[in-house]
Amino acid sequence: RTDGTTDYYEITQRVADAELIPGVRTPIWGYNGIFPGPTLVSRSGRRTVVKHRNELPVPAVVHLHGGHTPPEFDGYPIDFILPVGAKDDSAWGGMATHLHGALHQGERQYEYPLDQRAATLWYHDHRMDYTGASVWRGLAGFHLVHDDEEGVLGLPAEGRDLPLMIVDRSFAADGTLQYPALDPTMAKQPGVRNAYASGVLGDAILVNGVLWPYAEVPAVRHRLRLLNASNARRYRLVLDPPPPGGKGFVQIGSDGGLLDRPVTHDAIEFASAERFDVVVDFGRYNPGQRVNLVNELGAGSTRQVMQFRVGAKATDDSRVPDVLSSTPALAPASATVQRDFTFRTGSVGAMTGWLTNGKPFDPHRYDAMPKLGDTEIWQFQSDFHHPIHLHLVQFKVISRNNKEPGVYDAGWKDTVDLKPNEQVQVITRFTGYRGRYVFHCHNLEHEDMAMMANFVTT
Ligand code: C2O
Ligand code: CU
Ligand code: CU
Repeated sequence: RTDGTTDYYEITQRVADAELIPGVRTPIWGYNGIFPGPTLVSRSGRRTVVKHRNELPVPAVVHLHGGHTPPEFDGYPIDFILPVGAKDDSAWGGMATHLHGALHQGERQYEYPLDQRAATLWYHDHRMDYTGASVWRGLAGFHLVHDDEEGVLGLPAEGRDLPLMIVDRSFAADGTLQYPALDPTMAKQPGVRNAYASGVLGDAILVNGVLWPYAEVPAVRHRLRLLNASNARRYRLVLDPPPPGGKGFVQIGSDGGLLDRPVTHDAIEFASAERFDVVVDFGRYNPGQRVNLVNELGAGSTRQVMQFRVGAKATDDSRVPDVLSSTPALAPASATVQRDFTFRTGSVGAMTGWLTNGKPFDPHRYDAMPKLGDTEIWQFQSDFHHPIHLHLVQFKVISRNNKEPGVYDAGWKDTVDLKPNEQVQVITRFTGYRGRYVFHCHNLEHEDMAMMANFVTT
């Protein structure tokens, strides 16, 4: 539904059966009962209102990842939509009640101004301590934002613009999804490594909710919006075979929208929640050729991602201009504050988990209070792989280990892939709304095991 100024969507979150593996029935938790959830599409600057009804057996929280969203609609981890019929959250540990979160009964509306550039956003569950389990069961979907700037470039569009949500999952013999309890003894199941270290890894790869799928593509340019929606798995994607001359991926965008100029790659390496918007010209292959999208960091069943079956040549009036966009740079000298955050494992009392500056997540501790309009440099230090994500803003990576940013750091980002023992600096400007937001590791098991903190814009 739409009116002069606003687009409206209604989503019911419910338990449903899905066919993730051909011929096999898998119960999921789905937005409208499907995985991925419905792809929402918005125009930049046009308000989008999404009404969510919760028919799941647990409370839900919806976060629009990459959205420039007022705090009350951002999906704070204790801002619950209770299951339809529930009066409070006592059946689920009373977390939101004890921590003074919010309880919405059965349904609520999220209002997104989408006052931001065209970009590949996604929405997913964000309930405190249970995000990993809920997303694993299926609570994730795309939300695409288009704008006029992007519209005139002539990039591949319509059927040649493919959002690809890549996840790993494990299945039991009866087709049900297997998610280990967060208990180190449970985590030693085959195909799933110790949840305390790597997060939960599956042993099969799904694209848009289908196991190792294929896509039939005419031999022309396609835009692939790659999203790593896995709980914890990192990928290094290559085209096998590569096109003659290599550099099969022409990166045109990152988490926060179009790059200023395209960057070519032989491989795309990315961590949870990162998006790489690339153009692949299948016209560089012969009609009839099969091109595999392969994960070089995987082995056996986690190596194959999907296949492209190249069809006949067709007219292709798309192009990738040398200049895609021009966004104002943030000068490091204009930063008013530098803040330091370490992301490390550790123990606090009896609790062993993943900590930010030595502390577990506490909704009432303000870890940073940036002033609206200010530019800041945030420095992150890691002990392990940690994809660090900030809500509300997009940032630029300005250094890794005091050297230049890496080849996968181009453009505006909301999630940066920290490697073990790395130090990364990012710069951002806090704009838009005053209130409490989180930043956290997007390895969802690390997030659930407390590697999350608050910033409050004032
Ligand atoms: Cu994609 Cu705080 O999340
Ligand atoms: Cu987010
Ligand atoms: Cu982490």
